[in-house]
Amino acid sequence: MKRILIFDTTLRDGEQVPGAKLDLPRKIKIAKQLEALNVDYIEAGFPASSKGDFDAVKNVALAIGENGPVVTALARANKNDIDAVYNSVKYAKKPMIHMVLGTSDIHVEKKFAKSKEEILNLGVEAVKYAKTLLPDVQYSTEDASRSDFEYLWQTVEAVVKAGATIVNIPDTVGYAVPEEFGEMIRKIHDRLMNLNDKVILSVHCHNDTGLAVANTLAAIKNGATKVECTVNGIGERAGNAALEEVVMGIKVRQNYYDAYTCVNTREIKKTSRLVSNLMGLDVQVNKAITGDNAFAHSSGIHQDGLLKSRDVYEIIRPEDVGVEDMELVLTARSGRHAVRNALEKMGFDSISDETFARIHEKFLELADKKKEVYYHDLYYLMEKDFIQEFHLLQENGKTVDLYEFVDFQVISNNIYPSATVTLKKGKDTFTESTVGDGPIDAMYTALKKIVGMDLLLTEYKINSISQGKEALGRASIRVQHEGKSYTARAVDTDIIKASAVAYINVINKILLEQAQLSNGNGHNGH
Ligand code: KIV
Ligand code: ZN
Repeated sequence: MKRILIFDTTLRDGEQVPGAKLDLPRKIKIAKQLEALNVDYIEAGFPASSKGDFDAVKNVALAIGENGPVVTALARANKNDIDAVYNSVKYAKKPMIHMVLGTSDIHVEKKFAKSKEEILNLGVEAVKYAKTLLPDVQYSTEDASRSDFEYLWQTVEAVVKAGATIVNIPDTVGYAVPEEFGEMIRKIHDRLMNLNDKVILSVHCHNDTGLAVANTLAAIKNGATKVECTVNGIGERAGNAALEEVVMGIKVRQNYYDAYTCVNTREIKKTSRLVSNLMGLDVQVNKAITGDNAFAHSSGIHQDGLLKSRDVYEIIRPEDVGVEDMELVLTARSGRHAVRNALEKMGFDSISDETFARIHEKFLELADKKKEVYYHDLYYLMEKDFIQEFHLLQENGKTVDLYEFVDFQVISNNIYPSATVTLKKGKDTFTESTVGDGPIDAMYTALKKIVGMDLLLTEYKINSISQGKEALGRASIRVQHEGKSYTARAVDTDIIKASAVAYINVINKILLEQAQLSNGNGHNGH
């Protein structure tokens, strides 16, 4: 039986989703959870793209332990990008350089306006250069599924001879179909075996026609031993192959694929929730493996069958993907131990006593208001706190003053909807009152006046989260600032307050980013 290596690119391809960009503490939190999930590789970012990205990759590299995954990051096939990858991943116990260069006529002619030979030489030279820095180098033949096969093979052969240790075949635009893609991988696999059987054959599939997982599994059936995927299938456009679907697809049909992975599947649900919450990307309820309804049986016939024997309608035991453990209903009487235990199950396992005392106090306040406290509720209590605590560590004692919500009043009527908001920043308190088209508009105008930033609200959503008749309301917003998109969420029993805090969270995100840039943190360190 062959082992399939799992390469997670949630923090690179997944982070390319507009508005899903992570700040440093969130990125490290997800990386540590990917380590707990036991993936084989983490692609942590694209360090040549910005100082912030460089710094994030470097910090992920430092955070991952000796027995953890290989840490890599993406470069285009040029010296500057390769240096940025090397200088950020070199802190990892197991670093690797990943580079990408197109092989399709469309890429060669339209994107680069060069000849195929020139592109091939660029790729070979880039691999040779990367090999002077690190022994492990992955080469991705971008848009491989729309490439002339013989040119694709010529490229694979040349980069392997130059020293590439992994060849990754991407279906960059989700064009492939399983039978054809499987056939292509079979041909490359057979030739690669003759050329150098130590080289790992990998695939990276996008989901534009909903076939990313099917194409990935077809590749495994035909000789690929490493696959690239993202948690919840997030990624560029329609996303990438979903890690949880690929892993469980292999596990459920282990004999058919004659393959296994070393992923700790019991960590899947926790990882999915963490990624969804920290990146602000909801998981559709009927999503395979990680959707809220993935293990819910509603029809009477099905429920009757399940009661007779679970395997009548169940091919995956929910507990095998960590679903059973997630159900939490806490009350004010639950006790400290139960709350700590619940936090541990959610991935917050190294909380200091001081932090726990603070969270427990907030928990009691919420439990008084809401009676039943669920996983989602507890998560939001925790998130704000751990981000701030982590931030203090990252800034080496240099704290950045952030805005804090103090109070608000809104008046909603047909004539003059208006709002008054009070915020605190450091020792200063600010109050503004404005009118608007509605109460939220008025409140956001007041907030903009206080912070003096040019902010354009492009998305605003209110959802009720978790269960219980006093369910919390979650405000999710997207804002444009200086050409960049930022998202934030906030949760409260009062949806107007949640809306205000979500906006303040966006403002604080921008302030943190600005502070990071002005500290020179993450400078390309050559
Ligand atoms: O989709 C793609 O081709 C990529 C490469 C960088 C592997 O993301
Ligand atoms: Zn991709």
